[in-house]
Amino acid sequence: MEPLRVVEWDGDGDGPAVVLLDQRALPGAVEYLRASTVAELGEAVRELAVRGAPCLGLAGVYGVALAAHRHGSVHGTDLDTVRRESEWLARVRPTAVPLRLGVERALRHLADGPAAVLAEAHAAAAQGAQANAAATSRAADLVEELVGHRPIRTLTVCNTGDLATGPGGTAFGAIRRLHERGVLAETLACETRPLLQGARLTIWELERAGIGHRLCVDSAGPAAIANGLVDAVLVGADRIAANGDVANKIGTYMLACAAQRSGVPFLVVAPEETIDPDTATGADIPIEERAAAEVTALAGVPTTVPGTPVYNPAFDVTPFELVTAVVTETRAWCSAVRT
Ligand code: MRU
Repeated sequence: MEPLRVVEWDGDGDGPAVVLLDQRALPGAVEYLRASTVAELGEAVRELAVRGAPCLGLAGVYGVALAAHRHGSVHGTDLDTVRRESEWLARVRPTAVPLRLGVERALRHLADGPAAVLAEAHAAAAQGAQANAAATSRAADLVEELVGHRPIRTLTVCNTGDLATGPGGTAFGAIRRLHERGVLAETLACETRPLLQGARLTIWELERAGIGHRLCVDSAGPAAIANGLVDAVLVGADRIAANGDVANKIGTYMLACAAQRSGVPFLVVAPEETIDPDTATGADIPIEERAAAEVTALAGVPTTVPGTPVYNPAFDVTPFELVTAVVTETRAWCSAVRT
């Protein structure tokens, strides 16, 4: 299977650019978007052409590399402009901590010149792929151990495959490993209103990988768990507080509540860097609120009364006590309450 080229650097052609697989066009078309300024990249981040916490981290490191290349000359790099643009980029989406970390990581190399910043971005991409490989293997082992029977039925929400992370995926990657081990019966994918990352992206990746699946509306997820159709729930994370509380796509919390009630393992698979020591608890995680138009229309067709006020948080927070384990590339951090 062709690897997906989700976030890449293009140093050839008409000047430096970050090339993105434009996720807004999926599943209908595989299209690439060329961002040759930080403003264009930030717009792509805001519009979810590129998305998923680890890929936002890549957008952050490559974004600083882009700024450093654009604002460099024989006289040196205009450091103030690079810093200003980079700091703006880091704030475009506030919940996913890897975006800010990616920007900060790259900025630490700014004094060494644009080539050093780019080398750091490539290093971050390679390390991300390694982290995904280790975390998904550990998570698949843990699911097998906790479920204790085969075949295994999983449920997931949003999109945590290569589209969201670069090579390997997180929750999706663990599900793919169970499939490759021959122990997976099927995965239920929640459609993930309002932007349908589950229906559009996860189903596309499941189909591509040949993994058995069914799509369900978000509100069917808890019912599927209660009705015994699910052996393990696997989700990703945008930020994990120091106490283990998990911010992830809106709809995650109701799945965790249902999983706890039914005694179904609930695993969060994420790179270690998602655990933010500067965020004490879930209450301290900034939750991105998105435009009303995402909720008041479907594919451009209005679904409600014109002018209806909207509540549209992109993420919710699941308390650690509802999480069986947070699985990263280095450990399985198990909640003392939910084992
Ligand atoms: O708004 P999105 O599509 O960027 O939200 C993505 C998610 O919530 C993912 O579950 C999360 O970033 C983890 S990706 C491995």
